[in-house]
Amino acid sequence: MKPVEIAKGIYNVGVKDWNIRDFHGYSTNMGTTYNAFLIVDEKIALIDTVKKEFADQLLKNIAQVVDPKKIDYVISNHTEMDHSGGLFKVLHKIGSDKPLYCSKMGQKNLSMHFPYDWNFQVVGTGDELSLGKRTLSFIETRMLHWPDSMFSYIKEDGILFSSDAFGQHYAGKEVFDDEIGDSIMPHAKKYYANILLLFSPLVKKLLESVQSMGLSINMICPDHGILWRSNPSKIIEAYSRWSSQETKEKAVIIFDTMWSSTEKMAEAIYEGLCSEGIDARPMHVRKCDRSDIMTEILDAKAVIVGSPTLNNNLFPTISDLLTYMKGLKPKNRIGAAFGSYGWSGEAVKQINNELTAMKFELIDEGLNVQYVPGANALEECVELGKKIGKAIKN
Ligand code: FEO
Repeated sequence: MKPVEIAKGIYNVGVKDWNIRDFHGYSTNMGTTYNAFLIVDEKIALIDTVKKEFADQLLKNIAQVVDPKKIDYVISNHTEMDHSGGLFKVLHKIGSDKPLYCSKMGQKNLSMHFPYDWNFQVVGTGDELSLGKRTLSFIETRMLHWPDSMFSYIKEDGILFSSDAFGQHYAGKEVFDDEIGDSIMPHAKKYYANILLLFSPLVKKLLESVQSMGLSINMICPDHGILWRSNPSKIIEAYSRWSSQETKEKAVIIFDTMWSSTEKMAEAIYEGLCSEGIDARPMHVRKCDRSDIMTEILDAKAVIVGSPTLNNNLFPTISDLLTYMKGLKPKNRIGAAFGSYGWSGEAVKQINNELTAMKFELIDEGLNVQYVPGANALEECVELGKKIGKAIKN
C-alpha cells in the first residue's frame, strides 16, 4: 500500500495484510490492515507500527514521504504485536534513542515484549506533545482493549488516532468510509462483537468522557481497516448501541449434530420462532466460524444452544463456543437448550448450567430427545420455538 495523505501533512503509511484469514482465532475473510500514521510537521511523529513481518514495507512506505531517520518521535498507542511488532526494526533504523511515547502500562508491557532500554516517555490523559503547528494530546483507554491502550488526538485537525477502537478487519482498495459506504458496518460489528463486547461498560464510559471533553472529531483513524472521515458519528453511534447491548427480535440457534437428530430439532425450533415473526438463524458450529456466530449474537435477544451428548458430556465444539461466548460477556439475553442423546443425556443440563452462569434468563428447562426425534418431539421443538418467540416479543 502506498502512503495515503489523509490530511495535509498526515499520512497513513501502514500496510495491507490481504491474505490473513485467521487473526488469533477470529476469521478475517477480507484480510486486514495495520494502519500506522506519519505526521510531518516541524517535528515528525510516527503513530504505531505494524506486524513484525511487515516492518520493511512500513519503512519503505515512510521513505516515500520522508527519510525515516528524520522521524523525531514514535508513539505507541497499543502494545499488541500487530501494532508494535515492527517497533524494533523501526527504532533500529531511525535511532534507538528516539523518544518512544506510550502509557505507563505501555512502557511496562513493551518492556515485557522487547528486552531493550528504549527512551520511554510515559504519558497519560491530558498530556501533550507539540510537533510545531500541531499538538498531539493523549487519552488513556485502559482495557480498551489492553491495559496499555491509549488514543492520540490532534486538536488542530480534530483527528483521533483510536488504536483498535472503531476498527474493522477489512483490506480493500478503499481508505475512507465514504468510499465504501454501509458495507463496512458488518466488519465493524464483527470487530466489536469479538474484541470489545466484554469491555462494553468501559466503552460506554469512554464515549461519555470523550463527549465531556468536548473533543471536536473530524476524523477517526483506527489501526485496522477504513478511516471514518465523512461521518465519524456513525461509528460512534454504533458503539453506543453495541455497548448498551441493545438487541433485536432475533434468535440465534447454535448447534452441533452427530447423526442429524439435534439438527432436526434446531430446524423445528427455527420453524416455531419464524411462526412468531422472529428473525432466527440456525448456525452449525462446525460450518460457521465462532467469530461469525458471535457477530450474530451481538444483537440477538435469544441464544438457543443444542448439543448431542457425547461421552456423558457436551459435544466439544459446543463447549468451545460456550467458553468463547462466556468470555465475551453478552448481557440481557434469554436462552434455552436442546439436544439428543443415546443413553445418558447430560448435554442439555450442562448447557443450562453454562447459560445460567452467563446470567441468561432460561425460559424453559430444555428439550432432551433420545436417539431420533419423532413427530411428537419435533412438535415440542416447534412449541419451544414459539415460546421463545413470545418471550422475545415480551
Ligand atoms: Fe490490533 Fe489489540 O491489536
